[in-house]
Amino acid sequence: MPIRREHFQLSLVLAGGMTICWLVFSYCASVSLTQVNRQVVLNHRLQRKQAKLMEPVRTDVLTVTPWLAPIVWEGTFDPQVIDEAFMSQNLTIATTVFAVGRYTRFLRDFLESAEKHFMVGLDVHYYVFTDLPGDVPNNVTLGVGRLLSIVRVPKFDRWQEISLRRMELIQTAIKDHIHRGANYIFCLDVDMRFHGRVGPEALGRLVAAIHPWFYMYPRSQFPYERRTVSTAYIPLDQGDFYYQANIFGGALEDVHRLTKTCREHLEVDKSVGVEAVWQEESHLNWYLLRNKPTKLLSPEYVWDDAKGRDAKEIKLVRFSSVIKDKAEVRENL
Ligand code: GAL
Ligand code: MN
Repeated sequence: MPIRREHFQLSLVLAGGMTICWLVFSYCASVSLTQVNRQVVLNHRLQRKQAKLMEPVRTDVLTVTPWLAPIVWEGTFDPQVIDEAFMSQNLTIATTVFAVGRYTRFLRDFLESAEKHFMVGLDVHYYVFTDLPGDVPNNVTLGVGRLLSIVRVPKFDRWQEISLRRMELIQTAIKDHIHRGANYIFCLDVDMRFHGRVGPEALGRLVAAIHPWFYMYPRSQFPYERRTVSTAYIPLDQGDFYYQANIFGGALEDVHRLTKTCREHLEVDKSVGVEAVWQEESHLNWYLLRNKPTKLLSPEYVWDDAKGRDAKEIKLVRFSSVIKDKAEVRENL
């Protein structure tokens, strides 16, 4: 029966082809799913507080942007729900921190407080960028699944140069090694301390935090770069929020694109002898105006100890700049 045999062979080829397609598809799907937020799957047996549509949890602050990105404030999320949704995903968060020159003195408090509050329960890989590897404290106890690598960087004379070089160094680090070993990346300032939870509620494709000194002001008063000669120029009638560069992050691909663009713009500015008013922070703000963050962190996530603790909209200070003697830690003013 030659016709039957042909049919059989054809079905065999088709079935084989379909199996290969399915295998390739499921492999690709699982790879991309680890990169971005997965569908939230929760244990239905656990009793949770009911969310009520007519009873907003925060009425004193904006909790969603005009482009529908959430703004994370205390009260807007249930930490247990968030933890349950993220913990099973085996996520690794690369965390860059720059400790150049005398800034190494901030590392101990930074790391010790991060171990108590930052992405607890997830794998964290700290990348400490420093010119003084010997000054990195080697006796900070890191939790299970958490590790620290030192990346040696040259020391630049001016703090402004150190600051703006971060974009280039982060970009290179993502490209050269971080991209293989992490799902998300956060870039943090070292002269800071954690006081409260900064957990997976802060994860998203592109995440930035609202500066604690400017959220009350109209955009015309934000300290954006206002000179048209700079690639970071933002006119007075534009702008959503003023973001502080002390904490930003997201998926590796998105943060790579951000740091690459900022680095290129910093180089263009440099070639015409211009340095933006707040160095890489000005370029970050320019980038985020055109590439809207998918999640915003309220100033709880980037407070400043110099602001005290009595702003009534701040229910919980989570991460905060320490008060420092600038003359003591910087080599130029
Ligand atoms: C300061 C902060 C700087 C920069 C500046 C912008 O409070 O220390 O890093 O963000 O605000 O005006
Ligand atoms: Mn700082």
